[in-house]
Amino acid sequence: MNVNGGKMRSVVLKDIKKFEVVEIEEPIKSNGKVIIDVKKSGICGSDIHYWVNGDPKGLVLGHEFSGVITDNGNNENFKIGDRVTALPISPCGVCEACKSGNPQYCKVTWDNAVGLSLTNPGGLAPKLSVRSDMVYKLPDNMSFEEGAMVEPVAVGLHAVHLAKIEIGAKVLVIGGGIIGLVSSMFAKKAGASLVVVSETNEKRGEKAVSLGVSDEWYDAKNPTYVENLMEKTNGGFDVVIECVGNSPAVNSAFTLVKPGGTVVLVGVAMDAINIYTVMAVMKELTVQGAIGYTKEEFKTCIDLISNKSIEVTKFIDDVVGLDGVQNAYERLTSGTDSAVKILVDPNK
Ligand SMILES: NC(=O)c1ccc[n+]([C@@H]2O[C@H](COP(=O)([O-])OP(=O)(O)OC[C@H]3O[C@@H](n4cnc5c(N)ncnc54)[C@H](O)[C@@H]3O)[C@@H](O)[C@H]2O)c1
Ligand SMILES: [Zn+2]
Ligand SMILES: [Zn+2]
Repeated sequence: MNVNGGKMRSVVLKDIKKFEVVEIEEPIKSNGKVIIDVKKSGICGSDIHYWVNGDPKGLVLGHEFSGVITDNGNNENFKIGDRVTALPISPCGVCEACKSGNPQYCKVTWDNAVGLSLTNPGGLAPKLSVRSDMVYKLPDNMSFEEGAMVEPVAVGLHAVHLAKIEIGAKVLVIGGGIIGLVSSMFAKKAGASLVVVSETNEKRGEKAVSLGVSDEWYDAKNPTYVENLMEKTNGGFDVVIECVGNSPAVNSAFTLVKPGGTVVLVGVAMDAINIYTVMAVMKELTVQGAIGYTKEEFKTCIDLISNKSIEVTKFIDDVVGLDGVQNAYERLTSGTDSAVKILVDPNK
């Protein structure tokens, strides 16, 4: 039983590509967890996988959020009214991975993740509960919109750190969703002399250039796409960051990287996919996975946004209420819509 007794409207995963807006229990006050009034919550490409599969039913998505603390869970570092964001993950805090500052390797890090597990409803509701050791205050000059962008931006920063881009490197980013766009942004910051984004959605491709995060974009549907890029780079990119997760995208990453180069896999495939590993063998590629971010990287992204080193509100296309979530997911999966990042305001 919920001791607070309250109910709240929230968006719940019902079936394949179907949400419903229903009442769920409000979060319960508990030591070590803060309760926040959600102000903004982002829709992520990973959320889309859950929606497409319609599983697990009852999931309340929303792991990229910002809000105001209404209960500090007896953690003196926080008070009611603090404006915050948080890492959504649930690392154990005591294993070797956690102690080394790499909670993304912790075995239980996704088990109770906010907005990604049935045990911890996310930001598609007006209130949520999150571990206070995962919470960061937003600097005064940061908006709630910016606060909700910290999580996806940190994914891009982590990917680019792992890509070990050298000054002057040529970098291809496959996929111009938010993860691809922020990875391109950081690749440029890391000193790449050429950053190309490839896309199958023309409007997103054009956006990668108009938003200033890539030098050029290439249409992956064009039959001569690979040939054109091989010619342009004189035999391949130094680094390819794969931000899609399907078989054509991963294979094009292996094809378009130069011998001895690095492919960073960020895209998530929910099932086994066909990959021509012989290309990685013959070219002696470094194939590097990238998942999430470290706490340090998450904090760095708050600093970079706050000190205006990066601008992230330009990626936000729309802000919708709970009743607009179903339509927002349809737009984001249309393959033709220009929208890349849609935020949800559960009180709108
Ligand atoms: N590793 C991590 O920590 C992490 C974190 C967040 C998201 N992800 C994953 O990264 C991927 C991207 O996330 P997103 O939010 O940007 O998703 P998204 O769905 O918005 O973007 C994917 C983009 O890829 C494009 N695309 C599809 N096939 C392509 C192809 N063959 N070549 C080029 N582009 C193609 C689509 O048009 C789309 O714009 C997803 O699989 C997501 O689950 C991984
Ligand atoms: Zn995300
Ligand atoms: Zn751990």
